[in-house]
Amino acid sequence: MGIGARALLLVLAVGIALGVVSSSPGHEPRGLSFARHSELVATRDVDELRQAHEVRTIRVFEPYEEREVSFEAVAFDAVLDAIYSSDWRTQEELLFTCSDGYQPTVPVRRVLEHKAWLAFDRADEDGFSILKLESGSLRRVTLSPFYLIWENFDDPQVRQEGDYGWSYQLVGVDLIRTQDRFPKMVPPEGASRDALAGFAAFRMYCSRCHAINGEGGAIGPELNYSPSPVEYRESAWLRRWIDDPSQILATSRMPRLNPGLADRDQTISNLLAYLEAMSKTKRKLRAETKDGS
Ligand code: HEC
Repeated sequence: MGIGARALLLVLAVGIALGVVSSSPGHEPRGLSFARHSELVATRDVDELRQAHEVRTIRVFEPYEEREVSFEAVAFDAVLDAIYSSDWRTQEELLFTCSDGYQPTVPVRRVLEHKAWLAFDRADEDGFSILKLESGSLRRVTLSPFYLIWENFDDPQVRQEGDYGWSYQLVGVDLIRTQDRFPKMVPPEGASRDALAGFAAFRMYCSRCHAINGEGGAIGPELNYSPSPVEYRESAWLRRWIDDPSQILATSRMPRLNPGLADRDQTISNLLAYLEAMSKTKRKLRAETKDGS
């Protein structure tokens, strides 16, 4: 085989390989589903959102890379208006489904009070990804199909709340009521003010990874059943753990509570008050079904 023929084969082989890589539909989820109380309302892919909304280049302080990054994005509130009409504005919470298994939530109020964008590409670099510190090492994490980003240059509160609400690999949005969707996570009647504030903090910072009475994320261990960590750990140990798990376990996968929070000590106290209240509220893990299974 002559050199020319070999070069041609090589070009063909590379071309095919690239073709396979760039056109792997079905492997990467491209669409975003929108639901109301778990009932599917609509699905949109990147092209549909690009066509229906004005695409803008948005510069943010990216909380994982901790530097300025630009994204191509459409306004999140405009997308929600188009899907749900203005109905979503009076709902309680948005539950996000991410293809990596996280299920974070943000109150609807946060989207009304701060400006969020649905990003689908980077404007400053090739590839839709970021570098993220995980268990002590930097990893490149793909963001596709969507990354929810927040304007945080002129918004000190959003800036202070760090990565809260920045959901990547976003594939689903659901309008929910906490009481309906996570009834077993809700503090008992008569719970203290601290425990109620702790519940709000738990929804913001913990439930995307941890379940209470079987409800919530599954990245970290269940935190009430059974026993609750407040039943086998000293509260000083738990304070230190929530403050920064890596002080206790260098390889911990759990991030420290956002160091920029202004009322951090009080937030930790509230979280412990919530866990304490829940430790006395062990609800059945599985909802009882008609056939008893
Ligand atoms: C990104 C996922 C993630 C988030 C967010 C997270 N955790 Fe964790 N958590 C873990 C994992 C994983 C473990 C298991 C130990 C480990 O790998 O570090 C854990 C363990 C724990 C433990 C058990 C420690 C023990 O050994 O008894 C407690 C208590 C805890 N987390 C509380 C919290 C609280 C409170 C929050 C919110 C402020 C929170 N976690 C946020 C992932 C997370």
